[in-house]
Amino acid sequence: MSWWWAGAIGAAKKKLDDEDAPPKYQSVALIIGVTGIVGNSLAEILPLSDTPGGPWKVYGVARRPQPQWNSDHPIEYIQCDVSDPDETLTKLGCLQDVTHLFYVTWANQATESENCEINGKMFQNVLDAVIPDSPSLQHICLQTGKKHYWGPFELYGKASHDTPYHEDLPRLDVPNFYYTLEDILFESVGRKEGLTWSIHRPGLIFGFSPYSLMNLIGALCVYATICKHEGVPLKFPGTKEAWESYHDCSDADLIAEQHIWAAVEPHAKNEAFNISNGDVFKWKHLWKVLAEQFEVENGGFDEGGERVSLVEMMKDKGGVWDEIVREKGLVSTKLEEVAAWWFADGMLGIEGVLDTMNKSKEHGFFGFRNSKSSLVSWIEKMKGYKIVP
Ligand SMILES: NC(=O)c1ccc[n+]([C@@H]2O[C@H](COP(=O)([O-])OP(=O)(O)OC[C@H]3O[C@@H](n4cnc5c(N)ncnc54)[C@H](OP(=O)(O)O)[C@@H]3O)[C@@H](O)[C@H]2O)c1
Repeated sequence: MSWWWAGAIGAAKKKLDDEDAPPKYQSVALIIGVTGIVGNSLAEILPLSDTPGGPWKVYGVARRPQPQWNSDHPIEYIQCDVSDPDETLTKLGCLQDVTHLFYVTWANQATESENCEINGKMFQNVLDAVIPDSPSLQHICLQTGKKHYWGPFELYGKASHDTPYHEDLPRLDVPNFYYTLEDILFESVGRKEGLTWSIHRPGLIFGFSPYSLMNLIGALCVYATICKHEGVPLKFPGTKEAWESYHDCSDADLIAEQHIWAAVEPHAKNEAFNISNGDVFKWKHLWKVLAEQFEVENGGFDEGGERVSLVEMMKDKGGVWDEIVREKGLVSTKLEEVAAWWFADGMLGIEGVLDTMNKSKEHGFFGFRNSKSSLVSWIEKMKGYKIVP
């Protein structure tokens, strides 16, 4: 064998060995709630080659089988119910390479004290499974929200702080499952030296997930589709205060970017941050955009009419939705799973409550979104994945 041939074989063998070698990851993410409105954005952004802290290996957890719209992302999907301590320990306790935990899930119960109980248990189960058995664990990102300042749904703003909300405001003197989650976080990070945390507080989220418990854009897309199908104008189903006041919102990709920034940026450790787009909007302006996107007449806000809730309007529309899904060849969904009408009624019934992004900017996160473009991009994603026509 000539020397150059042996050399070529050696080089080719080395190349093959390199290709066969397991990829080297700088960071390993565990996303709890990976099919949710922010979980899906994290699953999309983390594996990208230019994501800070990467290359990232990503584990993603949810209860239902992985849906098609989530399976495009290169993640290891784990079906697990984190409200079950044994299942959580068995399925997550063995993931010894996790470096960063992203907690973006929750459960909704009838009362806030029940919310505190179930959500506290879910988070504790995850931490009990992951902290002792993941020697590389460095950081935990916990997502809560603006209700930290505004109070739980059952009090609907009655216990609210004055706006704009900032992170230094004291806790309200009412039960709030966000406070329960924070307390569990603070207690648990003390169990491992050097383990850091960050808390992320979005307001109303604009994003994509047909599995989310609260997805306003999803509900509005479905409502607009039904109005168009029935040949009726797209009326604003909310209140005059909601129609005319300034609001802010939080783009799901922007929230994911703030999570990742806090996970890798030393200045962001052990802090809570608001996360909103950095601009304001009025529903009377965005409603026109929504109507245009679905080519339906803009019915606007009916000054003289009585408010009819979406819960009421949509209660008999299950059959209509099935017909639209069939006719338009959409991904098969049931009306009650693809739109949370109670949440849409709530969000379109209140005057805007604004927060401030000053603390986040002062710590070095300068991300922002244009809320009108954000709305359009998520509508396009809903159409692209054939959830709506
Ligand atoms: N959505 C909003 O507009 C909004 C606004 C402000 C704050 N927040 C807060 O953000 C936090 C996260 O909520 P989100 O809205 O991002 O979540 P989400 O969109 O409702 O998603 C929840 C995710 O968790 C999974 N999940 C639910 N129960 C589970 C369990 N027992 N075990 C394992 N996986 C489970 C769901 O999939 P499966 O159902 O298949 O398990 C889904 O992937 C909450 O504290 C929420 O209050 C949300």
